Amino acid sequence: MEILIASLKHIKYCNVISQNIASSAKVRGTGIALRSPEYIQTKIENNNAVIAIENNEFAGFCYIEIWGHGKYVAHSGLIVSPKFRGKGLAKKIKTLTFNHSKNKYPNAKIFGITTGLPVMKINYELGYKPVTFSELTDDEAFWKGCSTCKNYDVLNRTRREMCLCTGMLYDPNKN
Ligand SMILES: CC(C)(COP(=O)(O)OP(=O)(O)OC[C@H]1O[C@@H](n2cnc3c(N)ncnc32)[C@H](O)[C@@H]1OP(=O)(O)O)[C@@H](O)C(=O)NCCC(=O)NCCS
Repeated sequence: MEILIASLKHIKYCNVISQNIASSAKVRGTGIALRSPEYIQTKIENNNAVIAIENNEFAGFCYIEIWGHGKYVAHSGLIVSPKFRGKGLAKKIKTLTFNHSKNKYPNAKIFGITTGLPVMKINYELGYKPVTFSELTDDEAFWKGCSTCKNYDVLNRTRREMCLCTGMLYDPNKN
C-alpha cells in the first residue's frame, strides 16, 4: 500500500474518489458532503491531497482546505474504499494529511467536522479537541460546502451554531 501526497499522475482517480464519497454518503445515511471530480482535481493540483493506492487501485483519500485567509485549515473528504476499511488506513491517511498540513501551514488551526466515530478517534489521537462551531472558521465558503449534506436544513435552522457533526480543532499554539 502506497500512502502519499497526491500528484498530477493521480488525477485519473478523481472520478472514482467522487463516486466513493457519494456511495458512502448513501449507505451511511448520517450525512456526508459530496465532492465533484473537478473539485477533487483542484485539491490534487494544489498539492493539498493525500491518496492511498494499492496495485494501481484506489484505496483512500483526504484533502486540505484553507479558510479565513490561512488562519484555519480543514481536513475533509476522508474516504477509504470499502474493501480497505478496518485496517487502520484512515488513520494513516489522516496522519500524513495532518503532518503535511502542519509543514505547509504551520500557524493555521486545523479543524474538521464529523459524525463518524472512527474520525473522532483519529482526531483525538492527533491532539484535536471537541469544540462548538463558534470556534471554527466563519468563512462562508466552508459552510457552503455542507450544502450537499442531507442535514443542511439543521445547520441553517440553527444559524450555523450547531448541527449533527461535532467540530474538532487542533490549535498549534496549545499543543
Ligand atoms: C470512516 C472511514 C474513513 C474509516 O476508515 P478505516 O480505514 O476503516 O478506519 P481505521 O481502520 O483507520 O480506523 C480508525 C479507528 O476507528 C475505528 N473504527 C473504524 N471503523 C469503525 C466503525 N465502523 N465503527 C466504530 N469504530 C470504527 C477503528 O477501530 C480505529 O480505532 P482504534 O484506533 O481505536 O482501533 C471509512 O469507514 C469510510 O470511508 N467511511 C465512509 C466515509 C466517511 O464516513 N468519511 C468520514 C467523513 S467525516
